[in-house]
Amino acid sequence: MNSSTLEMNQSTVAVFGLGYVGSVTAACLASIGHRVAGIDSDAHKVECLNSGKAPFFEPGLEEIIRNCAANGSLSATLKLEEVLSTADVALICVGTPSERNGNLGLDQLRRVCEGIAAVSETRDKPLIVAIRSTVFPGTCDEVVIPIFDKCPKITVVANPEFLREGVAVDDFLFPSLLVVGGHDPAAVARVAGLYDKLDTRACLVTLRTSEMIKYACNAFHAVKIAFANEIGSLSAQLGVDGQEVMATLCQDVKLNASKAYLKPGFAFGGSCLPKDLRALSYRANRLDVKIPLLDAALPSNREHLDRAIRAVMDSGAKKVGIIGLTFKEDTDDLRESPVVAMVEHLIGKGMDLRIFDSHVNLDTIYGSNRNFLLNAIPHISRLLAGKLDTVLAWADQLVVTQKPNAALLASIQNSGLPVLDLASLTATTTVAVVA
Ligand SMILES: NC(=O)c1ccc[n+]([C@@H]2O[C@H](COP(=O)([O-])OP(=O)(O)OC[C@H]3O[C@@H](n4cnc5c(N)ncnc54)[C@H](O)[C@@H]3O)[C@@H](O)[C@H]2O)c1
Repeated sequence: MNSSTLEMNQSTVAVFGLGYVGSVTAACLASIGHRVAGIDSDAHKVECLNSGKAPFFEPGLEEIIRNCAANGSLSATLKLEEVLSTADVALICVGTPSERNGNLGLDQLRRVCEGIAAVSETRDKPLIVAIRSTVFPGTCDEVVIPIFDKCPKITVVANPEFLREGVAVDDFLFPSLLVVGGHDPAAVARVAGLYDKLDTRACLVTLRTSEMIKYACNAFHAVKIAFANEIGSLSAQLGVDGQEVMATLCQDVKLNASKAYLKPGFAFGGSCLPKDLRALSYRANRLDVKIPLLDAALPSNREHLDRAIRAVMDSGAKKVGIIGLTFKEDTDDLRESPVVAMVEHLIGKGMDLRIFDSHVNLDTIYGSNRNFLLNAIPHISRLLAGKLDTVLAWADQLVVTQKPNAALLASIQNSGLPVLDLASLTATTTVAVVA
């Protein structure tokens, strides 16, 4: 990047809170060409930054702070008025510690935003307040934005932080994920632009998605670690090398270490997943190895199915057409299909149903597949329609349980019937990403 482009993209940034996140953010933004002032209520941290020192140990941080403090691109202060007058963007990095009940403590966030608001009512220069602290979805809309009610020049966005302590500088300069969300596209683009010098692509999302994504990421990491540890512990008890098991699992980048199975949709089922989870739980229990995460997968799946059943019952429909009876599209396997369980439950509640599944024909399915269906729903032949049109002409509500092919989807959409979409047909799968 040449120096004129650099100047064009240079911003004046105020970083509120110089803890682990704020210090790294302030130092690294200064190192990529912005003019940065850090603000903290802790005089020691301010003093550290101004004298070119890191306020805590983080590999590589002190060197960046020393260089940037020396060349004037990074400074720190206790007084927010000093830096706000020239700032284009205020990044809020204060702590959001747990309260006793597990809820998030927002006192620091409120206090810092109220401080900014108090000096910004008559401001004539635009200021973007970007929330980098971890906050629960809805916090920006319900807590932060109202604080700036009387500050017409302030726009709020969320720009969550994903760095890991110990490798925080590297994570900032080579981010695994960069997310900016907000109601105002220009403000979102402006904050994404702060990172233009990094070799990364920013995901531009809604305000609430950007708040939620941080929780989704941390929950995912926690679940991955707990999963690997449970598999490792059970493997050890079985005399199997858990490291080899997990390393081999990761070799599968089609289904395992991949996007597969990571879209919200309908409950899982089929002849393998429930059966194998039950066997794992049973054997672990016998070996006295506790695997609460793996034990929870089937109850979690049942809960998800119950939500779907409640949604069908709450629809108030009298004549419900179910599209898809097998556990997923493009199979005639009905064993442990969650749709069969749902149909069983809805019949028990007295609902009137008709079912269409292009792969299920009572005359051709046989063996355990046919037995499973007839055991669960003895009167299935009365409910199963051979043609989609029969269901479309009869129903006043459709429930789609699996991804239909293009022709089936077109018929469903053209029917004009209300659709309860358990298969996430309308889910958006694209995220606006800018280089
Ligand atoms: N630490 C991490 O690895 C990490 C990673 C990603 C996200 N986060 C999130 O980022 C946020 C900050 O985390 P942290 O670990 O840097 O917290 P921290 O406690 O280390 O730092 C918070 C800083 O804010 C300062 N502060 C508090 N009130 C202030 C005020 N009114 N004005 C100015 N400064 C004020 C404190 O003095 C402190 O220096 C949290 O929401 C956290 O969940 C942390």
